[in-house]
Amino acid sequence: MGPGAAPLPVLFPVSFPVPFPVSFPVLLPVLLPLLCGLQRGAARELPAPPHKIAVIGAGIGGTSAAYYLRQKFGQDVQIDVFEKGDVGGRLATLTMEGQEYEAGGSVIHPLNLHMKRFVKELGLSVSPGAGGLVGIYNGETFVFEESSWYIVTVVKILWQYGLQFLRMHMWVEDILDKFMRVYRYQAHDYAFSSVEGLLHALGGDEFTRLLNGTVLEALQKAGFSHKYLHDIVTPAMRVNYGQSANVNGFVGAVSLAGAESGLWSVEGGNKLVCSGLLSASGARLLAGAVTAIERKAGSGPDGQALPSYRVAYETAGGPASDLYGLVVVAAPLNRRMANITFVNFSPPVPEFHKYYHQTVTTLVRGRLNASLFGRTAPGPFPLTEILTTDGPDLFINSVGAVTPVTGKRGAAPAEAPSAVWKVFSQEPLSEEQMNLLFASYDAVRERRWLAYPHYRPPEKCPPVILHDRLYYLSGIEWAASAMEMSAIAAHNAALLAYHRWYGNAEMIDQEGLYEKLRTEL
Ligand SMILES: Cc1cc2nc3c(=O)[nH]c(=O)nc-3n(C[C@H](O)[C@H](O)[C@H](O)COP(=O)(O)OP(=O)(O)OC[C@H]3O[C@@H](n4cnc5c(N)ncnc54)[C@H](O)[C@@H]3O)c2cc1C
Ligand SMILES: *[C@@H]1O[C@H](CO)[C@@H](O)[C@H](O)[C@H]1NC(C)=O
Ligand SMILES: *[C@@H]1O[C@H](CO)[C@@H](O)[C@H](O)[C@H]1NC(C)=O
Ligand SMILES: *[C@@H]1O[C@H](CO)[C@@H](O)[C@H](O)[C@H]1NC(C)=O
Repeated sequence: MGPGAAPLPVLFPVSFPVPFPVSFPVLLPVLLPLLCGLQRGAARELPAPPHKIAVIGAGIGGTSAAYYLRQKFGQDVQIDVFEKGDVGGRLATLTMEGQEYEAGGSVIHPLNLHMKRFVKELGLSVSPGAGGLVGIYNGETFVFEESSWYIVTVVKILWQYGLQFLRMHMWVEDILDKFMRVYRYQAHDYAFSSVEGLLHALGGDEFTRLLNGTVLEALQKAGFSHKYLHDIVTPAMRVNYGQSANVNGFVGAVSLAGAESGLWSVEGGNKLVCSGLLSASGARLLAGAVTAIERKAGSGPDGQALPSYRVAYETAGGPASDLYGLVVVAAPLNRRMANITFVNFSPPVPEFHKYYHQTVTTLVRGRLNASLFGRTAPGPFPLTEILTTDGPDLFINSVGAVTPVTGKRGAAPAEAPSAVWKVFSQEPLSEEQMNLLFASYDAVRERRWLAYPHYRPPEKCPPVILHDRLYYLSGIEWAASAMEMSAIAAHNAALLAYHRWYGNAEMIDQEGLYEKLRTEL
């Protein structure tokens, strides 16, 4: 273009007739939502927010639900959180000799972004996982043992398993990559009305297939050897979920991700996240066990039918009840756990005969019986984490040295003179078993859990929507039980409750979100 030419952008070609309405389809996507928005605004007023919200359970699921519900519904809503035990639920510590140790959920993956964000926003600190040497024991001998010489370990791995460790890492990374899409969907406020729908939006049919079959089948199909599955994969399932490689493929992948590096926990105890979220949410904590939820027909200000729910609960002072416009159940619904009766629902809220596995955590200060593990040589026992394969004689799932939740983190736990060990087993340890496992011991603490679902694919997850304004979080545990999963379910339930309250159907169960959000960036 020469210096004399005026490069004027013709913004308003008023003097020219518009030959075709070319600009109309271009403008349509911009104008349409505006027009519709106006129409909708003119047609009806936004409904008032719920007067009161009940959340049942103050574990990580319930407390993060309170936090996200506050974020969505604003400051004026009263949120009550019911808890029959301790805030934290399955995030809890055991105190031994004046020190606290994690007794339930203990490690967090570096890519668990909700947990990471909570810790940051609540001003808590991260404590890195302890290092140490792992051995895998089959009841007679170690099928695999790490060496304190890294290079020796690498050579052993290559010799015994070829490149399968690397391939497994890639298999897990691929699933994790897809799983991470959830954070973008939730950041854009999208919600899902079922666990299966959420997983399908993340990983398509591949994720559905993972829920449909065992992790064993999934990895066999991917070409992993029988030896690798037996020696490496099964022990990871046993330590994390107290079960074999017959768990579903999705929880299997979560479990294998839990064997990666960079794991962390919360300084002072993971349960601090729950108490922190509770106070950040400004919710009221009600100490009591909810026994029943009854549907009440009521009416809104404009005469339209509005359901509300009477929540009945037992407190130290006797029974009580209160009415709520919205209820979120954040505890496993079965008779042995939440044990809540649903009254006056039609169709009835289904009974979930879903079975949770017992896992017993035993903390022991003592010296392991090295000869039980086939060590006759004198000298310190080098391993700090012993995993186990499936075997009929094994009465433990794992035993590992642990450090307290405060201070002294990051350093590998010491064996001498004696360490604190955490044993996971299906049944409480008998005195005989204690004397077999430990050469000597001087302190023991135990906590029994109904820990996680007994996985038996094909897995069908319980519904998220139990009734109009009654939501259920814990169904996600049937895909995989982990702190982050409960937080994801909590965020989803808050978004879903909000969009359903205000009739934002376009924010629920959207197909093709991944493509849609990718082109938006
Ligand atoms: C031994 C063990 C090790 C684990 N290790 C890990 C790990 O390393 N990493 C990880 O991510 N996850 C781990 N998990 C899993 C993790 O702890 C759970 O998935 C998670 O804590 C579940 O949180 P939640 O809030 O959904 O349920 P919960 O923590 O079970 O919370 C439910 C709460 O509801 C309360 N409640 C129940 N019924 C009622 C009622 N009727 N009225 C009032 N209150 C009620 C309960 O008392 C409880 O506090 C582990 C779990 C166990 C047991
Ligand atoms: C999963 O299993 C169900 C039945 O159990 C079946 O209907 C569905 O097609 C399966 N999906 C995939 C992707 O394999
Ligand atoms: C569940 O609650 C009912 C009463 O609501 C009680 O009768 C029953 O014993 C409870 N079940 C368990 C397993 O605690
Ligand atoms: C240790 O294990 C061996 C079996 O290997 C057993 O005979 C012994 O009684 C156990 N206990 C002690 C204290 O050594």
